[in-house]
Amino acid sequence: MSTNRPALPAEIARRRTFAIISHPDAGKTTLTEKFLLYGGAIQMAGQVRAKGEARRTRSDFMQMEKDRGISVSASAMSFDFKNFRFNLVDTPGHSDFSEDTYRTLTAVDAAVMVIDGAKGVESQTQKLFEVCRLRDLPILTFCNKMDREARDTFEIIDEIQENLAIDVTPASWPIGMGRDFLGCYDMLNDRLELMDRADRNKVAETISLEGLDDPRMADHIPPALLEQLREEVEMARELLPALDPQSVLEGHMTPIWFGSAINSFGVQELMKGIGQYGPEPQIQKASPREIAPEEKKVAGFVFKVQANMDPKHRDRVAFVRLASGHFERGMKLTHVRTKKPMAISNPVLFLAADRELAEEAWAGDIIGIPNHGQLRIGDTLTEGEMLKVSGIPSFAPELLQTVRAGDPMKAKHLEKALMQFAEEGAAKVFKPMIGSGFIVGVVGALQFEVLGSRIELEYGLPVRFDASQFTSARWVHGPRDAVEKFTQANKQHISYDHDGDVVYLTRLQWDIDRIERDYPDVTLSATKEMM
Ligand code: G4P
Repeated sequence: MSTNRPALPAEIARRRTFAIISHPDAGKTTLTEKFLLYGGAIQMAGQVRAKGEARRTRSDFMQMEKDRGISVSASAMSFDFKNFRFNLVDTPGHSDFSEDTYRTLTAVDAAVMVIDGAKGVESQTQKLFEVCRLRDLPILTFCNKMDREARDTFEIIDEIQENLAIDVTPASWPIGMGRDFLGCYDMLNDRLELMDRADRNKVAETISLEGLDDPRMADHIPPALLEQLREEVEMARELLPALDPQSVLEGHMTPIWFGSAINSFGVQELMKGIGQYGPEPQIQKASPREIAPEEKKVAGFVFKVQANMDPKHRDRVAFVRLASGHFERGMKLTHVRTKKPMAISNPVLFLAADRELAEEAWAGDIIGIPNHGQLRIGDTLTEGEMLKVSGIPSFAPELLQTVRAGDPMKAKHLEKALMQFAEEGAAKVFKPMIGSGFIVGVVGALQFEVLGSRIELEYGLPVRFDASQFTSARWVHGPRDAVEKFTQANKQHISYDHDGDVVYLTRLQWDIDRIERDYPDVTLSATKEMM
């Protein structure tokens, strides 16, 4: 449960670490671009996504992504707004990358949900919302594209309340829609915000008014729209819950702002809202004890590993969310899994425009640590204490295929490439107990394509994927003896993942049911905590 606790050091208290969740096309890229614009990270909108080219943001690295216009990799961007430091963690938008998205959401304290005013809650939004709910993440909502024909405001709010079972409170109220969209009435500050259609990158004109009855209102809004606005706001105040900051922090209520990202309208209000109502860095679950952000000592965990971000350098970058303390460049941290010290000499801070060397970072920040493969997803770094951050799962893949190198002499190279992608979390790789070759598992079919093109691009290895005889994978848990006995009796079905853990492969649910009956000491599980 999220709460803003008093007494966080100011540097930590001003941090807001969040992700944007949305259905493709709702306007996530456009909104991100405007965030960066207002955050002073870029000079002009349009820098993030070059006009006329396939859609992409700075966070897209791969050729594949550019071709497809999808964002495969999640990355982080930091920028300042007012007194706040925002850390925006980009989530892959395509549904095939849900596991990556899930892990990204373990690294944030809140989510901004973007919906299209004409389409309402779409399938991908709903799915991502469910993931946020598992962690009671606070959600702030932005209803975009109000400059187009949108649905009735009450209807949109009802739909969110009903489909997502969350209280919705209007932070702003739209005045007109489509061609008639004039701007919003700020429900929290009793102000009129007018949209300036002339300049998309300029701040909208704000007019301060003494509530809805202010006679100056009529100078800006035609009579029919004004009457409608007064009626609707009155009704909204009667029918919808008032903003309860605590309920927002607990993930039970979402404030909604209306706007038009492309016209830069409503974006600043949303940003102010994230600052004011969004959570500070939160306590991190770990064993044997939780980690509080204000602790003096630094602790952090890896939620993503990205290989070959810069094709010129064969580096890997581990994205680390700092859970506590004040990090300074050059610090020696303990890599808890191997108990080895690591000097963090060239950490990277993702200051939107470019990767920059991080001199310091605080709890809540995301830093990138270049490394040669020591850091894996789920790893914890501390100043010596043996803490292990929990709650970063790995999911059983839903699609399995065998993979072979086009050139059989290159099998060893393929193994190396596959292991790297497995550690990066891009795919599951299973080595069968009997026979040669590898089985690769993914959550969505598009991942096979991405993987194939990356192996070819980054390792110069053409590969072939073929149907596997198996369709499901389950991790095998239990006392060592029981697992060993089970393994020996089911060799044809056994393989090992990249950590060496035992995995049972099958094509029949019936098999899984049978094992649960026949081997009571063994459990088959569709998730595994990342080590
Ligand atoms: P996504 O990342 O969520 O997939 O959405 P993205 O920002 O790429 O926006 C999807 C489309 O919606 C883009 O149009 C974008 O310009 C448009 N859009 C975003 N915000 C608004 C808005 O407030 N009002 C209107 N009317 N449109 C908006 P496109 O034609 O696909 O791309 P482009 O040619 O404009 O770049």
